[in-house]
Amino acid sequence: EKGTYAHFMLKEIDEQPFVMRKIIQEYQDEQDNIKIDADVRAAMLAADRIYIIAAGTSYNAGLVGKQIIENLADTPVEVHIASEFSYNMPLLSKKPLFIFISQSGETADSRAVLVKIKSLGHPSLTITNVPGSTLSREADYTLHLYAGPEIAVASTKAYTAQIAVLTLLAVDTANAKGLTLDFDPLQELAIVASVMESLTDQKEQYADIAKAYFTGTRNAFFIGRGMDYFVVQEASLKLKEISYIQAEGFAGGELKHGTIALIEDGTPVIAISTQENVNYSIRGNVQEVAARGANTCVVSIKGLEQDSDTLVLPHVHPLLTPLVSVVPMQLLAYYAALHRDCDVDKPRNLAKSVTVE
Ligand code: M6R
Repeated sequence: EKGTYAHFMLKEIDEQPFVMRKIIQEYQDEQDNIKIDADVRAAMLAADRIYIIAAGTSYNAGLVGKQIIENLADTPVEVHIASEFSYNMPLLSKKPLFIFISQSGETADSRAVLVKIKSLGHPSLTITNVPGSTLSREADYTLHLYAGPEIAVASTKAYTAQIAVLTLLAVDTANAKGLTLDFDPLQELAIVASVMESLTDQKEQYADIAKAYFTGTRNAFFIGRGMDYFVVQEASLKLKEISYIQAEGFAGGELKHGTIALIEDGTPVIAISTQENVNYSIRGNVQEVAARGANTCVVSIKGLEQDSDTLVLPHVHPLLTPLVSVVPMQLLAYYAALHRDCDVDKPRNLAKSVTVE
């Protein structure tokens, strides 16, 4: 039920802090340790390389998950678009573990990969919001997202839930490997939940920004580097999916290799800068496009901000910034679609889960 909300998408964006808290609660034992099934832990420990398979927003969450797993658990990870996997099948390691990320658990492209890798005898874990779903039933193990039903076609709370669960999985693996971490995921996710709340509490500003940048535009660009590059890919998917604005997410450093030719007077360019090691370079990219007439907007984070920034996010752990920087992106897409009179919850040509290959 939508309750007082005009759209499921807005309701689901607002639910994200509660989903974070639900995940903390469900994945925590009485001693405040992470609670992950012993057989999932064993599968993670046995793997010499992880292959994440997913589509759309779940793929974008996988890109963030790769950084988190490699950083915390020290296991190499590859992320693959499900529909491409069989054409560009990578050389597999000796002990692969396949992780399928899927909100619905019904995505046919992912299922095709699961069938294939099962026939090769490889172990599989599905991370899904629907535990009884096909991908969940057919994989060896399942982790539940606890995001509650996601009705809007545009995925929002599943993305943040996927990243949160991947973080807990990574830390659990790190602990099992005996690695020392300077990172308490349950505490850091609790901080994320409060920050998400502070962001969703100020909706008017996103409506205004969406109006200023996206009214009447045919295209829009999102740029980021490092971790932020993964979030701009999700930001652009969200915007194009529901507002029909042609939007692309680019690596800041790639602009000069072609894309910058598209910048004209008034082209919206939204930059995300949440990582210290990219802050200087991405701001250089913003200047380059501004000098060519772009209408630039910078979303940064406390500690890295500059006076001219459009939005400054409160501080969260650098590995978890996607969980908060995506929220303004979801809201900008929502208000852009609203201003353009689009059917926010049911965009044209799209289904909630894609059950054909
Ligand atoms: O149910 P899944 O997570 O497997 O779905 C994957 C994509 O179809 C899905 O994320 C799609 O990209 C969303 N509509 C994006 O908002």
